[in-house]
Amino acid sequence: MSIKTSIKEHFTNNPLKEHLGNSSLKNHWCYFFQDNLENGGSKEFYADNDLDFRRFSWEDLDGCAELFKNVFSADPWNDKWVSLDQSRNYLRELIENPVFEGFVFHENSIMVAVCFGHRRSWWMGKEFFVDEFFVENKRQGNGIGSKTVDLMVNTLREEGYTRLTLLTNKNIPAETFYLKKGFYNNEKRTVMVKEL
Ligand SMILES: CC(C)(COP(=O)(O)OP(=O)(O)OC[C@H]1O[C@@H](n2cnc3c(N)ncnc32)[C@H](O)[C@@H]1OP(=O)(O)O)[C@@H](O)C(=O)NCCC(=O)NCCS
Repeated sequence: MSIKTSIKEHFTNNPLKEHLGNSSLKNHWCYFFQDNLENGGSKEFYADNDLDFRRFSWEDLDGCAELFKNVFSADPWNDKWVSLDQSRNYLRELIENPVFEGFVFHENSIMVAVCFGHRRSWWMGKEFFVDEFFVENKRQGNGIGSKTVDLMVNTLREEGYTRLTLLTNKNIPAETFYLKKGFYNNEKRTVMVKEL
């Protein structure tokens, strides 16, 4: 049983239910998981000292856009993201995907890692496709990416996902990182692009 389910069950079966009424119980429930976000999702918290891992919510968008722009404008990507509006628009499109799933990781209340992806109901099971994954430039190489993947894997497993899939460039640090985290290269696949 997931942590979320067992806490929900605890409050549902609370012997004080008769005295407190349903609304008070719901407040307890929301205190833990802050349900009913404006984007309709639920926000789970995993606190570990100063680290805080949770689902994306709209208030994170500007922070994510800034982090994304800073990370991918630097080595080894050197993308030409010219404005915050541009990166915000790009991320907003990912978020507006009806099967979007996103996670953010804060350290001492500062956003240090983000993962945006989407659900795919593949015939082999429920798959999480990673669209973007990035760790704040100065915090890279300190185990944050690894911890984020571990927390995501635990959460997604509990939700019935059976695999993670992503695309990245060959021979860059991210490839080494993913290999260390148990991903493998699917040699049967190729990426095809047609310039228009
Ligand atoms: C790739 C990225 C997500 C990894 O996160 P991170 O916090 O820097 O990685 P970690 O510190 O958790 O490293 C985990 C493991 O990967 C390895 N690794 C991470 N960066 C590496 C690098 N530059 N070269 C070689 N190995 C690397 C680490 O050695 C570590 O292995 P260890 O536990 O045996 O020491 C992060 O560096 C990043 O955001 N890079 C820029 C954006 C990017 O490339 N995103 C992925 C696009 S698909």
